[in-house]
This record gives sequence, structure tokens and C-alpha cells, in this order.
Amino acid sequence: MDRPLQVLISESDLQRRIAELATEIDRDYQDKTPLLCIGVLKGSVFFMVDLLKRVKVPVVIDFLQTSSYRSGTTPGEVRIRKDVDVAIRGRHVLIIEDIVDTGHTLSTVLGLFRFRGAASVKLCALLDKHEAREVPVSVDYSGFPIDNVFVVGYGLDLDERYRELPYIGVYDGDPSED
Ligand code: IMP
Ligand code: MG
Repeated sequence: MDRPLQVLISESDLQRRIAELATEIDRDYQDKTPLLCIGVLKGSVFFMVDLLKRVKVPVVIDFLQTSSYRSGTTPGEVRIRKDVDVAIRGRHVLIIEDIVDTGHTLSTVLGLFRFRGAASVKLCALLDKHEAREVPVSVDYSGFPIDNVFVVGYGLDLDERYRELPYIGVYDGDPSED
């Protein structure tokens, strides 16, 4: 039986905020289309689908995958496991991510797309654990600021579990002892 999870952000609160983010994105990208939306696998998938169903400007979607959280590598060393398939030069890029924690992943990803010559690169993250930041990352479209707790659900996992929950829950226990 699964551990009980404490609901941090309900399904209806998520959907309400996502609708607001979509409105902001529509306003900012009206004359910068198609907008190239790049989801960071796998955590961003639920968020990206719900967000882009509401966005009205034309988009192109692609995905990239980075090295996983709490891997054996040195903290701060981020690997690209799966790269995007599309050309970046001259495109308006919006990176879509589940959560910004230490900031190492996003600072690497944003730097990579700037290096490749994107016309603009912005970041849309559902959750922002700002207290945990080790490198500065500015979140252009931020869903919810959260405390420095371990969360699961709505794409976010603990060892690949709980992604399918329609809400964000706080994992009540030591994530390393699950
Ligand atoms: P960062 O490089 O430390 O900012 O970490 C980013 C990645 O760590 C996110 O894309 C998530 O995959 C993972 N992560 C960070 N905090 C949590 C959490 O509370 N629950 C689940 N995954 C997390
Ligand atoms: Mg992630």
C-alpha cells in the first residue's frame, strides 16, 4: 500500500494557475511564432500537455532529457541524455520544466540553447523551490513557489513512482528510504 501523501497543490488549483500561465504566454508570443516549446523529460509531461492545450499561439513541440536527480555524478554536473531533434538557431524557445530546485539543470539547459543561437530562450516552470537554489536561474513563467520539501505527482516522481497523480503531494518520509 502506498504511503499517504499530503496534498500540497490540488488538481483544481493546478489547472487554474496553468490557465493563467497560458494567457501570459499568448500575450508575450503573439508575434513570435511558431513558439518552440521544449519539455524536459519526464517530469514536465503532464504540465506541458495541460499548458499547451490552453495556449492559443501556434507551437512546435520537442523534448530533451537530462541526467536524473540524485544520480551518482557530482552535483551540478548535468548530462544531456536525449537531445532535441529540431534546429534551434533563430527560433523563439520556451523551456518547460516541472520544478527548479538547485538550478543546475536549467542553467545548463538555458545556456545550451542560447549557445545554439536561439532568438530568445525563456523558462516556464510549474514549481519553484527558490530556497534550494545553488546557481541563479530566473523563471520567466512560474506556477507556484514552494518550500524546500520533496514533492511528487503531476509528473514528478520518486524513483519513477507517483507521476500519475493529478495533484502535487508532499512525500512524507525520507525519499532515500522508500
Ligand atoms: P535541479 O537541477 O536541482 O534544479 O533539479 C531539477 C530536477 O530535479 C527536476 O527537473 C526534477 O526532476 C528533480 N527534482 C527536484 N526537486 C524535486 C522534488 O521535490 N520531487 C521530484 N523531483 C525533484
Ligand atoms: Mg525534471
